[in-house]
Amino acid sequence: MSDTPSSTPVLVAVAWPYASGSRHVGHIAGAYLPADIFARYHRAVGNRPLMVSGSDVHGTPITVRAEEEGVEPQAIVDRYHAEFVEQWDALGFDWDLYTSTGTPNHHAVTQDVFLRLYEKGHIDRRTSDQFYDPEAERFLPDRYLEGTCPHCGYDHARGDQCENCGRTLDPIDLIDPRSKLTGAEPVLRTTEHFYLRLSEFEKPLGDWLRSRAGWRKHVLNFALGWVEEGLKDRAITRDIDWGVDIPVDDLGPGKKIYVWFDAVIGYLSAAKEWAQLRGTSDAWREWWENPDAEHYYFIGKDNIAFHAVIWPVMLLGYGGLNLPTDVPANQYVTFKGGKASASRGVGLTVGEALDRFEPDALRYALAANLPETSDVDLTEEEMVRRINDELVATWGNLVNRVVSMTHRYFDGAVPAPTDLDEADEALLGAVDAALVGGSEQLAAVRLRAALGTAMGAAQAANQYLSEKQPWATAKDDEERTATTLWVALQAISGIAAALGPYLPFTTRRVFATLGLEIPDTGPRWLRLEVPAGARIGEAEPLYSKVEPSNDEV
Ligand code: MF3
Ligand code: ZN
Repeated sequence: MSDTPSSTPVLVAVAWPYASGSRHVGHIAGAYLPADIFARYHRAVGNRPLMVSGSDVHGTPITVRAEEEGVEPQAIVDRYHAEFVEQWDALGFDWDLYTSTGTPNHHAVTQDVFLRLYEKGHIDRRTSDQFYDPEAERFLPDRYLEGTCPHCGYDHARGDQCENCGRTLDPIDLIDPRSKLTGAEPVLRTTEHFYLRLSEFEKPLGDWLRSRAGWRKHVLNFALGWVEEGLKDRAITRDIDWGVDIPVDDLGPGKKIYVWFDAVIGYLSAAKEWAQLRGTSDAWREWWENPDAEHYYFIGKDNIAFHAVIWPVMLLGYGGLNLPTDVPANQYVTFKGGKASASRGVGLTVGEALDRFEPDALRYALAANLPETSDVDLTEEEMVRRINDELVATWGNLVNRVVSMTHRYFDGAVPAPTDLDEADEALLGAVDAALVGGSEQLAAVRLRAALGTAMGAAQAANQYLSEKQPWATAKDDEERTATTLWVALQAISGIAAALGPYLPFTTRRVFATLGLEIPDTGPRWLRLEVPAGARIGEAEPLYSKVEPSNDEV
């Protein structure tokens, strides 16, 4: 494909999942799988992706769960962090670092960011009235408080954010607030906190956002809408005793940094931890300080405010660090019209999905349904259809047929072609065009479209075989059969490259069968030639068909 692959440092920043409960396939399609596909693509074209994330271990999601179970927050964190790490491996996610916000490094980097913003005057200390539960005798930060959203009327909005419309909230704005702890009507009490002076950044942030013309419309509109309403200063500490310590001016016991302030800093702290772990402690600068580096944030739409407004403000205030190149937030995966939720039992959890599907089949079914521009309702039936009718029928069978015929007619040695006719050239041209077109789509984070492009080439190869009928020409035209199978093997090589970011496990097997050595680093986004005379491996089905589930009508 492209002549000289440049080697751009690309930060692939992936939302940090709360270690407070199991993840479901909606989360996988929302952020983790797109990030892995994107990072694998960049590795294949010779760029230098740094894919980082980790478990978000602070805040009220963790403490609420711990209190419900009567255990320490750390016990909750340890349980779900271990579960996530195991599932990421099973799904083939190729992290450069998957860590957590519980590390000493993360605490130190968070405090450094806080201090620098404080010293530059972007953070100040204020007294305000916050909700307090008179029965439990506690303040009610974030998830300890529920009420009706003043923007959309959703009646389970939480103190810091409405899950329904995605707006970040000030608890004071909630209509009919109530304590999650006791159900009591909360009272206002004076407390002291640190505030991030977002309002100062209205102009520079607005200018920067308006320069982001290529962003997904729903992301840009949301962020700009928020700025145009007027940015309000926000408290970045809480009355809670689980989180990162405030590095200045002791406010007294029971106060910590707000989870969202520390979590987004994870993208920076993880890059630093990664550099340290490989013994080159300055290497993170190549991603964070080199102005040619690109930064992509893979998140769900409920996180847009934090990544397209608050984090850029923190970065602008800190100075000298790269801002997001793009925040390709996905919309939601819904199940029978409702938002997936592991706790409410809506949609498959990651564990359930891994029990039911092979990892590449699961990746395929989700990648074909990524909610890139609108919510996508995903049924198990749709997943089964994608796997059986597309992955197995179009791609798996293509590889299987061509490899089997190469054994049947040529003893497993790649036959040598003679003159290529128009149809032969056309197929190879279509495969090469799919690599070029797919590359443009992947670079623009149009991952669903790029998968369609690769599968289109597989369809063209099937079409080619039905026209050339090598099983028929094998009876009396060895030369023609040889050319057809040679062409088909070359096509498979190119299509496998284009599918590689989506199907890492089986792509490795396809290349091994073709006898192609794929380097771990360096460009792989090309149609490597399968040389005539080389011996190829046995035909072994890449995927099995899945049975439709019983509980479907
Ligand atoms: N923990 C948050 C969630 O699950 C996401 C945090 S993304 C981060 O919604 F980058 F801020 F960490
Ligand atoms: Zn709302």
